[in-house]
Amino acid sequence: MFPPYIVGARREWHPPLWLRGRCSVDMSFALAACEDPLIRMGTVLVTGGCGFVGSHVVDELIARGTSVRVLDLLHPLAHDGEPGYLNPGAEYVFGDVRDAEVVARCLDGVDAVSHQASMVGLGADFDDVADYVSHNDFGTATLLRELARRPVPLVLAGSMVVYGEGRYRCLEHGLVRPGPRTPERLAAGEFDPPCPTCGRALVPESIPEDAPLDPRNVYAATKAQQEALCAAFARETGAAVTALRYHNVYGPRMPRDTPYAGVASIFRSALQGGRRVRVFEDGQQLRDFVHVRDVAAANVLALDSGGAGTFNVASGEPHTVGELAAEVSAAFGGMEPETTGEYRLGDVRHVFASTGRAAAELGFRAQVSFAEGMREFATAELR
Ligand SMILES: NC(=O)c1ccc[n+]([C@@H]2O[C@H](COP(=O)([O-])OP(=O)(O)OC[C@H]3O[C@@H](n4cnc5c(N)ncnc54)[C@H](O)[C@@H]3O)[C@@H](O)[C@H]2O)c1
Ligand SMILES: [Zn+2]
Repeated sequence: MFPPYIVGARREWHPPLWLRGRCSVDMSFALAACEDPLIRMGTVLVTGGCGFVGSHVVDELIARGTSVRVLDLLHPLAHDGEPGYLNPGAEYVFGDVRDAEVVARCLDGVDAVSHQASMVGLGADFDDVADYVSHNDFGTATLLRELARRPVPLVLAGSMVVYGEGRYRCLEHGLVRPGPRTPERLAAGEFDPPCPTCGRALVPESIPEDAPLDPRNVYAATKAQQEALCAAFARETGAAVTALRYHNVYGPRMPRDTPYAGVASIFRSALQGGRRVRVFEDGQQLRDFVHVRDVAAANVLALDSGGAGTFNVASGEPHTVGELAAEVSAAFGGMEPETTGEYRLGDVRHVFASTGRAAAELGFRAQVSFAEGMREFATAELR
């Protein structure tokens, strides 16, 4: 199911448990890479470092002289073999974050951990539930148990999905929390959630980090659980843990159209396939689209800060999904998008970030504008 062991200069491949004992590969060479002089400048373990966000974090760290070790199992839902963009300056261990032995070896000599490994997206159907929990939560638990033996600062790739719906204000009742949208209202084209008390229209607002969590799908539940496990680890060990709640990340190396990919990649894949972009609901859903290089920069700032806390990582400029479709279609030179009125029950209506805390405490401000980022994304390499 997972790739075979790869043996090379800075490659280490870990056999799945069923192969152990049948495999006589000497792996001692892999940690010899620790003699690398860069490691004296600090070593960061990036789990999921072969993925979309993780690979940009790796690039950013290496560019400024940090030594990087990657632990990634090249999950078959995310990769079709080893991607071509892997930075040759990193040491790669192709293994599973759920494998305690591999994790322990990867943590050897490490000064900080950037935990990006996860199964992402909404998934194909509920059948995926055990895999999501296994990779995301059991994986995080395994990493934390090994890390607790020698705690170092940890940065967790969190997600805005933990909020569920965004923040809403009723002109009469102040801040309110609308429940999940009903199939009847959605079918009637009433996409905006009403005030749960008076039924009036609500005004969406940017969501701050202290908003209550309300994960509404399996993936969201596992991301909330990751945060809770990391917070428990921080309390028990005193280690600094930073949770970065990325909003909608887009950019080069984004996975192509799968149930495990985000909306930007679904649109871009449609254009590439010569199809018109189909926008669900009325296209007025608000999101914050943040460029992957900005997300990587936020990760480096968080690793450098050595502090702790939870931060939205976003551009600070909300846009509608309709605007995303129009911008990418125009930049690609494709057909005008079509707004279909279709809906998915798990989707939330509006969610966009308040970015003040990340600016004040991490010094993070996104640099790539929506127009510039989308122009690049329209023709960027996908994975
Ligand atoms: N892309 C987004 O818009 C977005 C938004 C919010 C949060 N995030 C979070 O950012 C992180 C990175 O996501 P991404 O978009 O780069 O996804 P991705 O699928 O491109 O990368 C995830 C990587 O993790 C690896 N992985 C999965 N399970 C593993 C395991 N058990 N052991 C080792 N490696 C494993 C995969 O092989 C993959 O390379 C995730 O934690 C995700 O939840 C992403
Ligand atoms: Zn009201």
